[in-house]
Amino acid sequence: MAVAQQVFLRDAMRRLNLTREIFAARIGVKRRALDTWLLPEGSQEFRTMPEVVQRFVTEIVENQHLMEKYAQVVQTGPLRDRIAVEGKHQLLSVEQFTRESVEELFRVADQMQPIARRQKVSRVLEGAVLGNLFFEASTRTRVSFGAAFSRLGGSVCDTTGFTFSSMAKGESIYDTSRVMSGYVDVMVIRHPEQGSVAEFAKATNIPVVNGGDGAGEHPSQALLDLYTILTEFSRLGKLLDGAHIAITGDLKYGRTVHSLVKLLALYKGLKFTLIAPPGLEMPQDVIDQVAKQGNHVIEQYSELADGLKGADVIYATRVQKERFADEQMEGYTADFQINKAVVERYCAEDVIVMHPLPRDSREGAHDLSVDLNPDPRLAIFRQADNGIPVRMAIFAVLLGVENLVQHSMRDVTWSPPSHIGPEDAVFHGMY
Ligand code: NCD
Repeated sequence: MAVAQQVFLRDAMRRLNLTREIFAARIGVKRRALDTWLLPEGSQEFRTMPEVVQRFVTEIVENQHLMEKYAQVVQTGPLRDRIAVEGKHQLLSVEQFTRESVEELFRVADQMQPIARRQKVSRVLEGAVLGNLFFEASTRTRVSFGAAFSRLGGSVCDTTGFTFSSMAKGESIYDTSRVMSGYVDVMVIRHPEQGSVAEFAKATNIPVVNGGDGAGEHPSQALLDLYTILTEFSRLGKLLDGAHIAITGDLKYGRTVHSLVKLLALYKGLKFTLIAPPGLEMPQDVIDQVAKQGNHVIEQYSELADGLKGADVIYATRVQKERFADEQMEGYTADFQINKAVVERYCAEDVIVMHPLPRDSREGAHDLSVDLNPDPRLAIFRQADNGIPVRMAIFAVLLGVENLVQHSMRDVTWSPPSHIGPEDAVFHGMY
């Protein structure tokens, strides 16, 4: 098979929009057999699916594709052209995606998993240079973009902080962007002002990725969040259409949730419960945008108890105090904290708890509690790990090498760790 079995099956389920249970029934196999076919190759219980099953799945997927083509749902041409902004290959906002194009990106991310999990290496981006320009604090976004680019064989140049950049000498965005374009092949930019990354993008013809523009958007984070939800749901046998997503915390200044709700809105019939302390509610224009599509239900609450009941996903966020204008709040109060007791009290066994991180773990911060760390429902580290395959997919698509990745892979020569973290849940690393 040209692609890994796991990638092939996950893609088929996503395209057909079927849970594992129903997909297994549709192709006439036992759910347990399907589970073993979906494991990463090399894991102990992995089994190769019979060729006849592979042919049958290919046929169903192709039929579905033909039907969509006749209904003119499917667009053709390279993905980077379909998500382009004014013809330029950039990632500025999640608004560039449709459900089809986002799932196509995730197929590329699935293909990256053997590299992200350090079983394979690739050099498809050999010779390319990434300019990582971070004018605002960052740990995981900057490092994961850099690591993703390096794992595809490219090299990375970083700048961090505003004070140490020429912008502190009064240089304009236009000049910085134009000058950088002469040095690097793609730029990832994080900047404290909303709309600033779009300004950088206007001044260049090289691909630009928005790594977070003030309280505006954080598209790569929302993409990895959606990828995480779909991956976790696939394991749990759930579909995203019709799911209940509870989002808690600073929804006013949290750019990750602005991007996430807009991206989730591409699915159908979701129930959003938006739970924010008074004064930190989700901006109305973002709510209006979500309300326009996909017959979603949007409810707003100021207390956890009211919004968490029956949630499939809890997405917690940090108070973005650095962006406060005249808000008085210091942090969350104890009754706003997502912790083990709250999750036990209001949520089901199969809820997943997410957070873009960093969480404020200082005493009295009452951000997402560390007492959930050993709980397999806490998906935050699996979520953060997904930053690598998703960001690799973003680079591969923007630079037009996504079709070369599969054949560029070689085995690693060094020994990677089998478990990355000491508290990894049993499911870690599996689908
Ligand atoms: C977030 C950000 O910078 O927007 N973090 C991230 O990129 N993973 C969230 C935050 O700072 O609270």
